[in-house]
Amino acid sequence: MFGRVKSLDAILATAEKKALHRSLGPVQLTLLGVGAVIGTGIFVLTAAAAQKAGPGMMWSFVIAGFVCAVAALCYSELASMVPVSGSAYTYSYAVVGELLAWMVGWALILEYAVAASAVCVGWSGYFMGLLKSWFGLVLPPSLSAGPAWTFVNGLPHADFSTGVINVPAIVIAGLITALLVKGTTESATVNAVLVTIKVAALTMFVVLTLPVMHADHFAPFAPNGWFGLAGSSGMGIVGAASSIFFAYVGFDAVSTAAEETKNPQRNVPIGLIGSLAICTIFYLLVAAGAVGAIGAQPTAVGVSPDSADFAAQCAALTAKGAQPLVCSKEALAYVLRSINYSRAGDLIGLAANLALPSVILMMIFGQTRIFFVMARDGLLPEKLATVHPKWKTPYIVTIFTGVFVAFAAALLPVGQLADISNSGTLFAFFMVALAVMILRWRDPGRHRPFRTPLVWVTGPIAAAGCLFLYLNLPLSSILVLPIWGGVGLVVYFAYGYRKSHVGRGLSEVHELDADIPPSSVPPID
Ligand code: ALA
Repeated sequence: MFGRVKSLDAILATAEKKALHRSLGPVQLTLLGVGAVIGTGIFVLTAAAAQKAGPGMMWSFVIAGFVCAVAALCYSELASMVPVSGSAYTYSYAVVGELLAWMVGWALILEYAVAASAVCVGWSGYFMGLLKSWFGLVLPPSLSAGPAWTFVNGLPHADFSTGVINVPAIVIAGLITALLVKGTTESATVNAVLVTIKVAALTMFVVLTLPVMHADHFAPFAPNGWFGLAGSSGMGIVGAASSIFFAYVGFDAVSTAAEETKNPQRNVPIGLIGSLAICTIFYLLVAAGAVGAIGAQPTAVGVSPDSADFAAQCAALTAKGAQPLVCSKEALAYVLRSINYSRAGDLIGLAANLALPSVILMMIFGQTRIFFVMARDGLLPEKLATVHPKWKTPYIVTIFTGVFVAFAAALLPVGQLADISNSGTLFAFFMVALAVMILRWRDPGRHRPFRTPLVWVTGPIAAAGCLFLYLNLPLSSILVLPIWGGVGLVVYFAYGYRKSHVGRGLSEVHELDADIPPSSVPPID
């Protein structure tokens, strides 16, 4: 299984057929990155980060941004060298063999599909905020949130007192899936408009909150310390960094556009580091504005925002009309309303409602693309890769993904979904950092359009950074990865091991490899 390696030359022969026009410059690349990155992380998870770290969450944004930056530099080397669909899965197939590639592909389901679910739940919070503010409509919690999940005696336990099913999240997942089945693509123009909306919304937030900042609101700076209080998991500044990592996911869009970039050696790192730097600066300003304007307002020190305890505390406070920031499902709109800018609060809610669906679209699209490549390699049933005769989209795999996304969004809270997604993403990035180093050592002479600077320093730091963030996620999310991996191994040995094309000696080159419909959506991976 480790020996089942897909030949890099066969993969590259596929890529050569693609011959895309090199048109992207540093500015477009940076915009692409910013468009793919800004989403639920900053608009929604700021509240959970405030509960975990207090005002110290500003450090959390810096730590997560740094790990992403070094991981991004490794990602780019492989993305520019092997510019075909499937991203980390394809790179791993060529470098570390089929079994590990399968595990990476399996982990990418967590990265993409679960991230899409998280953004659906984030969108739902903002959607309900607008419904309430504009029409006075309030959905009962049983229909607008999933249950709170905890582990009791090692088994997952659902507490339905705070919610049963998130109906708006199901609706948005269904709508986006329908769009993708019909082959709707997001044009560069729509992307530019949505980036502008997001950036304008965050700028407005910063401009309105910074003047009312108060130094007192920053104390105590780190109520849960760096690593949380003894016995808690995923708390403190570092725990918040592991969660807020989600806010940066999506920058891989830049690496995968390497092949369409003019002078990739110069422009890819500019695009990557540029978009990460812009997002980090925005995130820091937004975090400072939110905390400075109204304080972090943790419900009680040491209580995890994912616990049933927290949900109960929030329900009690909300019933008393004293909902703090950390309980809000539309954190940024909440802050603006709290400082008496209710119109601006609605505007930021509108911006989130308009812009978050494009992040969902990119995530579901990325997932279908990875499933598609895995199915065509024989590791998943090939029926999944069937293309619709009229719409020319991989409709079976898209519907399958949409149902999975809607199901998870219906039943899980946004913070837990983001943490689960992070565990898969961190594993994939860890493998990419290893793959870059292995390939440098095994095949040093190969042409690399982009070379990771100081790879023997950057690579180990990226791998260690991913491991560090993974180990500081809440225990339940740490456990999801090995359990999910175990299920993946069973599926592999029951199916992929026997059916694999490489295993059966059918390592043909697919002309379609680099261009799976619908292909004009900016690739995110
Ligand atoms: N970074 C993306 C978001 O925060 C996934 O929604």
